[in-house]
Amino acid sequence: MCGIIGYVGTDEVVPVLLDGLRRLEYRGYDSAGIAVMEADGIGILRAAGKLRNLQQRAYHEPLHGTVGIGHTRWATHGAPTEANAHPQTDSAGAVAVVHNGILENYSSLRRELLAAGVELESDTDTELIAQLLGREDGPLSERVLKVVSRLEGQYAVVAVHHEEPDVVVAFRKGPPLVVGVGDGETLVASDVTALLHRTRRVIYLLNGDVAVIRRDGVRILDADGGELERPEETLDWDAGRVEKGGYRHFMLKEIFEQPDAIRNTVLAYLDQERCGVNLDGLGFAPEDFSKLRRVHLVACGTSWHACLVGKFVIEELTGLPTEVDYASEYRYRAPLIGEDVLVVGVTQSGETADTLAAMELARDGGAMLTTVCNVRGSSSWRLATSRMLTQAGPEIGVASTKAFTTQLVAMVLIALALRAAHGRADETDCELVGELQRLPLAVEQVLAVDRELYRRGTEMLGDATDSLYLGRGILYPIALEGALKLKEISYLHAEGYPAGEMKHGPIALLEEDFPVVAVALNGPTREKLLGNLMEARARGAAVMAVAEEDAEEVHQVADLVLPVPRVHPLLQPVVAVVPLQLLAYNVAVELGHDVDQPRNLAKSVTVE
Ligand code: F6R
Repeated sequence: MCGIIGYVGTDEVVPVLLDGLRRLEYRGYDSAGIAVMEADGIGILRAAGKLRNLQQRAYHEPLHGTVGIGHTRWATHGAPTEANAHPQTDSAGAVAVVHNGILENYSSLRRELLAAGVELESDTDTELIAQLLGREDGPLSERVLKVVSRLEGQYAVVAVHHEEPDVVVAFRKGPPLVVGVGDGETLVASDVTALLHRTRRVIYLLNGDVAVIRRDGVRILDADGGELERPEETLDWDAGRVEKGGYRHFMLKEIFEQPDAIRNTVLAYLDQERCGVNLDGLGFAPEDFSKLRRVHLVACGTSWHACLVGKFVIEELTGLPTEVDYASEYRYRAPLIGEDVLVVGVTQSGETADTLAAMELARDGGAMLTTVCNVRGSSSWRLATSRMLTQAGPEIGVASTKAFTTQLVAMVLIALALRAAHGRADETDCELVGELQRLPLAVEQVLAVDRELYRRGTEMLGDATDSLYLGRGILYPIALEGALKLKEISYLHAEGYPAGEMKHGPIALLEEDFPVVAVALNGPTREKLLGNLMEARARGAAVMAVAEEDAEEVHQVADLVLPVPRVHPLLQPVVAVVPLQLLAYNVAVELGHDVDQPRNLAKSVTVE
């Protein structure tokens, strides 16, 4: 979604804002803009399209000042034009505003302002906020306190007023905002990645907070103007981790970071002596866990695929019935929640609007609420009463890779903890714990596979406009994930299916130019899957398979095998997804697409 940056300091602000926006580029956007507090008022530059368009304008039409705000927009109200780009101003040009989110009372506010004779210059809901602020009196923070009660919906807003050239005011309900506390400078951003290169001291704003930001720090007010205390935290992510480090794309770097990400996640929670999971300090109490009778896993997109795998793992290790829901569905149905239900919100960003709403529903229904999340301090982190941090580090590529594999590991860790709490732990746990520790080495082997195989796989998929991904059992979610990765970044159509369902419809699509990709690792249903692949071949479809190198029977059926090492059955999804990530990456690069910022997608989906 949109990216926001604000700065009050002593450096020339334009390079600071553009640098911050560059670091937010990965979130996806279609236009960008900045506002600078200049000596004679607020200077504004906006441009449709990529950030380089704004950079060029900033070069040719320089603005000067040490205070400003910036924005990358992901269009909601109004086409991605320059007129609709942020910052938006009031008619007098006295107030400038950047905004992430959606105003639900947009139509009534717009009608009201038009009736009052205000001439609106854009189609955005953001301009309405600027106009409302412009029509109030007093310091900007007081204007905000008056206007905020009139806004319905989801918003993170950062504003400036020309009469207060040293102040930036930020307020939020829904999408995140974080303040960065520097030395003689204070920043605010929608995402810590935009701050890390200047400071690691941060204050997360909560819903309803109004932050008055100056060079020497921040005052945080509640809705009545009373002062609030919010803790300052020091981030353990360093700025180098949000750079490409020699890789051509963030996505490739992140695929190759998976062994470390998995290792760190396993090490953070493993209790080797007990062959179990150490959840100390995370808010999980074993006695609470032992009361649980059911599990609900809620998430969106790739994280939802991790939940589908989680169902297999949790049910097998604990015997607890486990349901998986799209968060966007869960929040609007009437799930049977109670004190004996563990609801797990699985989210890389911790900011996905639907997942947060589903978690709120679970909390209100009295469930034990936990989150598997990659961003400490994010909204899901704060909402949950217990939490497991996936240790993937910042994920910048829009297509999730290392966050996904660490979510898969987190599912196993949660299942092991539940299993111990329910008194089911036995010597087989030690075997699984040992395999978890060896898992990074197995992923390293997948990453070392001969590139020639991927070149051939790329040719097979890149020459087709459609493909079918098949898997069975715990690997069918990996077929869904492989297909999602391909369509996200290569824009080729791919369907993921449980292989047994192929005959119930999708087989009608199969012909010569419609390849099938099978996740065919060793297991009780592999024979069945091979039967499905024979059926596909009989219709002329080329077959590619992910399987163990020595799986002769798969080599006999498939035109191409992408090899993976043999691992514990519950860990197969982790090694199986890596070749599919590499395949999607190679196809997208071959087709010349922007891998890290695929069209129409946003890294963090903070609106419904
Ligand atoms: C796909 C992808 C998305 C996210 C989804 C949920 O590669 O990244 O499908 O998985 O938008 O995001 P989080 O996990 O941040 O809640």
